[in-house]
Amino acid sequence: MREQDFIPGEFQKSVQFGKVTWQSPSNIALVKYWGKKKKQIPANPSVSFTLKNCKTITTLEFKRKEIKGEDFDFELFFEGKKKDDFKPKITKFFERIEKYTPFLKDYELVIQTENTFPHSSGIASSASGMSALALCVMSLEKELNPEITEDYFLKKASFLARLGSGSACRSIEGELIEWGEHKTTAGSSDLFGIKYPNKVLEVFKSYQDTILLVDKGQKQVSSTLGHNLMHGHSFAEARFEQAHANLEKLQAVFETGNLPEFIKIVESEALTLHAMMMSSEPYFILMKPNTLEIINRIWGFRESTGVPVCFTLDAGANVHVLYPKRHKEEVLEFIKNELVAYCEKGQYICDSIGKGAEKL
Ligand code: PMV
Repeated sequence: MREQDFIPGEFQKSVQFGKVTWQSPSNIALVKYWGKKKKQIPANPSVSFTLKNCKTITTLEFKRKEIKGEDFDFELFFEGKKKDDFKPKITKFFERIEKYTPFLKDYELVIQTENTFPHSSGIASSASGMSALALCVMSLEKELNPEITEDYFLKKASFLARLGSGSACRSIEGELIEWGEHKTTAGSSDLFGIKYPNKVLEVFKSYQDTILLVDKGQKQVSSTLGHNLMHGHSFAEARFEQAHANLEKLQAVFETGNLPEFIKIVESEALTLHAMMMSSEPYFILMKPNTLEIINRIWGFRESTGVPVCFTLDAGANVHVLYPKRHKEEVLEFIKNELVAYCEKGQYICDSIGKGAEKL
């Protein structure tokens, strides 16, 4: 599908008012997206596990205006309270998607949103938040144009979510989602995420992700800024090629279940992401001393027990501990005994692979 395919024609119906609610999860990348071209096109393909418990729940209420206005007309509530400081981000999102959703200015909108994970936990809510809002907007489009197919609905939701926050396009469906053109993945696209189409062994469909909250503060460097620093970065081209190669290697792993190889790729991707940050101009570090303590302890535990547990990181100090479900008990025991001490206020979140967003 091309970009033009997401520009709607005439709408069949006129809708006066309504309300829709979606819940949409966060996701954690195994091969990382870091660096982008214009219009949120990724510099390299990525693949992620969709999560189950870390979700945003968003309700969109819409009421048709008497006369179409010049501006987007919306109010925003976060956890029941009016949140005007989130409005610029949403306005920017609406501006970016306007070409594909020209009906938005015909409505007065009320957006109510909340997260299932603790506020300011250092967990990025942009993937779950933007995907939930994109799905609500698509539900409104479906009311105006009831004939759109399920496939189009999901692809366009991912396409719109991408324009809000790149990684959000991987939060619509589960369990494994790939985004970005990649030569050995049929149907892969820079425009939206697709369900990973090749063979995946059962072990990966029930993977666990325990998120250790190392630093719950606001990130010092936003991911938008970080992505931009990949322009002109000395190692950018090599990094983008490496992501293609790692994705290909991971495809073989999904098929064979080679966990040592899985661990090698996933941990290398996490450290490379942070290596890119540390070698940007200007350079920056998002890991904290406790991030490194945890990584070292995971390595020690894996070495001494043979349990195939590994870590990954997103653009922050928190550590995602990844492991097959059959090792849940022993890994949780290890986390409680050895890793919780390095978490801020001892906090962590138990999550696992999920199937994607749901309409409520
Ligand atoms: O979606 P953004 O622009 O917040 O970028 C997120 C990038 C990483 O989380 C660091 C990696 C990824 O692929 O999710």
